[in-house]
Amino acid sequence: MGRLICISNRIPTGANPSGGLVVALGDVLEETGGIWIGTSGEIADTPAAELREIEGGPFRRYCFDLTQEEQDNYYAGYSNSVLWPLFHGRADLMDIHQEYLGVYKQVNRRIAKLVAPFLKPDDRIWVQDYHLLPLAYELRLMGVTNPIGFFLHTPFPGPTAMQALPNGREVCQWIANYDLVGLQAERDVRACLHSMIEIADASNLGAGYVHLSPRQCRIAAFPISIDAREFQELAETEFDKLPAGIVKDHRRLMIGVDRLDYSKGVPHRFRAFGEFLERHEDWHRYVSLLQISPPTREGVQAYDDIREETEHLSGRINGQFADIQWVPIRFINRAVPREVLAGLYRASHVALVTPLMDGMNLVAKEFIAAQNPDDPGVLMLSQFAGAAEQMDAALMVNPHDPEQVATSMLTALMMSRGERRERYRSLMEGLTTYDVHWWSKSFLDALG
Ligand code: G6P
Repeated sequence: MGRLICISNRIPTGANPSGGLVVALGDVLEETGGIWIGTSGEIADTPAAELREIEGGPFRRYCFDLTQEEQDNYYAGYSNSVLWPLFHGRADLMDIHQEYLGVYKQVNRRIAKLVAPFLKPDDRIWVQDYHLLPLAYELRLMGVTNPIGFFLHTPFPGPTAMQALPNGREVCQWIANYDLVGLQAERDVRACLHSMIEIADASNLGAGYVHLSPRQCRIAAFPISIDAREFQELAETEFDKLPAGIVKDHRRLMIGVDRLDYSKGVPHRFRAFGEFLERHEDWHRYVSLLQISPPTREGVQAYDDIREETEHLSGRINGQFADIQWVPIRFINRAVPREVLAGLYRASHVALVTPLMDGMNLVAKEFIAAQNPDDPGVLMLSQFAGAAEQMDAALMVNPHDPEQVATSMLTALMMSRGERRERYRSLMEGLTTYDVHWWSKSFLDALG
């Protein structure tokens, strides 16, 4: 079997790299003598001329630094101020500048130049996420003919949204240079096919195949997941380590865990909780919302704004409803270790996973995996998370409708143990069958 060459914007660091993708790809990288390539996270004065090996770890890793200008224009600029909002249905938040696009292409061209000399004829290349859309196009220009796959971790926009992007046609042309494009959900496959056909005049060959001269590519859904068994064990162990007072008692704990990103709908969630408290005075002091939101992409205006809005709202709701013994919302604007989260999920009665738009949302999957099968909590899930296509036994909500979310909060809090077990059983069955190992295997099998 040829080597797997995985390329992502961020490279997993440390002697024991962790994270969902590492779990998914670590074994294949090890078995095939593969390589992971990505940015180091460090800033250099001049553009990187070569890759640097990261010592140690279970598989080979090579990284390169970005300059400050590249970080500002390629990462904060085109990737996170243009593509990210557009791909999450927020074209209104796009901040379009020629400079961003120019540097984004330059960085991708350079990555292609750094990677090309490493390639052997039977290597398979797997490119991750929206930072690297043009990478296959650049590699093809250099004569690379290896199979190249791409996985987009975010949603994909349909033609109407794509029209808001001045270079939407070019983006579709980049995509056509991959042999296989993996998306999170069927909704994204439909949107992508429509965009390729309507924006770039690709021909639809059926069964997910499109032709855009001179290339043909396949677009299909590969919903990413977690190692459900591993997370279940972690939650069991970590639950016992939680401080007394967190563990389930007659008070109910609702939990939200999201990077503080406007796509996650945290202010909407807070407003719905405010609506719930307004309606149900009898629940005051018996329910609280623990919202854990590490900061992300600081310095990008839309992220600074969402932080302010979230702080303001939690302050307002607490000011309105708290009493001397009870604070309704605990808002933590810091990262919490993964193992602590696992324990907290198990201790929570309800998870609020209510993004306005989300590629998949692995918190939904982790929350379910963490539950005690005898007395499981309830997952409230936005219909706009990619996870909704697989997790239809969750309590589905429309995050834009605070009254409906408030009603569902009561349903979740009051749900009988029998119904909770039934929903849990069905969700956990899906999670153990279609776990992260299934995800990487089925993608790589399809890439050939
Ligand atoms: C999303 C993206 C990832 C990204 C992550 C964290 O999940 O799909 O590619 O790594 O957010 O964002 P950051 O900008 O900190 O890498």
